[in-house]
Amino acid sequence: MLKAMGISGSPRKGGNSETLLAAALEGVSEVGADRETVRLNELSYRGCQACGACLKRTGRCAIRDDLDDVYLKLRESDIWILSSPIYYDTVSGQMKLFFDRLRPFVRRKLPGRRAGLIIVTYEDVKRPDYARHAKVFADYLPWFGNFRPVEILCGERLGGPTAASRRPDLLRKAREAGRKLAEALLKRGGGARRRR
Ligand SMILES: Cc1cc2nc3c(=O)[nH]c(=O)nc-3n(C[C@H](O)[C@H](O)[C@H](O)COP(=O)(O)O)c2cc1C
Repeated sequence: MLKAMGISGSPRKGGNSETLLAAALEGVSEVGADRETVRLNELSYRGCQACGACLKRTGRCAIRDDLDDVYLKLRESDIWILSSPIYYDTVSGQMKLFFDRLRPFVRRKLPGRRAGLIIVTYEDVKRPDYARHAKVFADYLPWFGNFRPVEILCGERLGGPTAASRRPDLLRKAREAGRKLAEALLKRGGGARRRR
């Protein structure tokens, strides 16, 4: 069975980015995959210290903190779904710190075929420049392993915390994106554990 990991970069429980994340995970589970969500805001972790240990020596992050457990979960997850609000024209600090810490996977690539989805939500009207932030992450996932496909979903005009729950268009897009990722992996015989 496929496994999907949702990473929430918002401090708002059940806010817009978590609502779209949950919809995407629902889509994944329609195809019969396990799902789990990690709320970065509930973890204690530091940013990358640029010590180079992961690249030069161990292939492992030298920092011991709450991301230890997340690394293990990510390694086991076929589908990664990262969801973040836009803060001051970029992703949240929680999400950025987390993403910087993914460098160990550059040295020790993840085994197996994987798929990814990057979600960003924001208050403004449609902003193509915000989609770029999602694309930056989407373009880096293949540095960590064989991530194909990697999709992007942008939720505009999402101000108040319940705005996304009143946007059937976005909820449908998120669910469909999740389902398609799982279907694509299954069709191509992908899966993190299968190829180990
Ligand atoms: C500190 C902060 C900065 C923000 N900066 C922006 C911004 O630059 N552009 C924008 O459109 N929305 C901005 N917003 C609004 C959020 O991106 C938007 O409400 C988002 O949907 C929140 O997602 P959440 O409910 O998952 O936390 C900001 C919100 C906060 C709290």
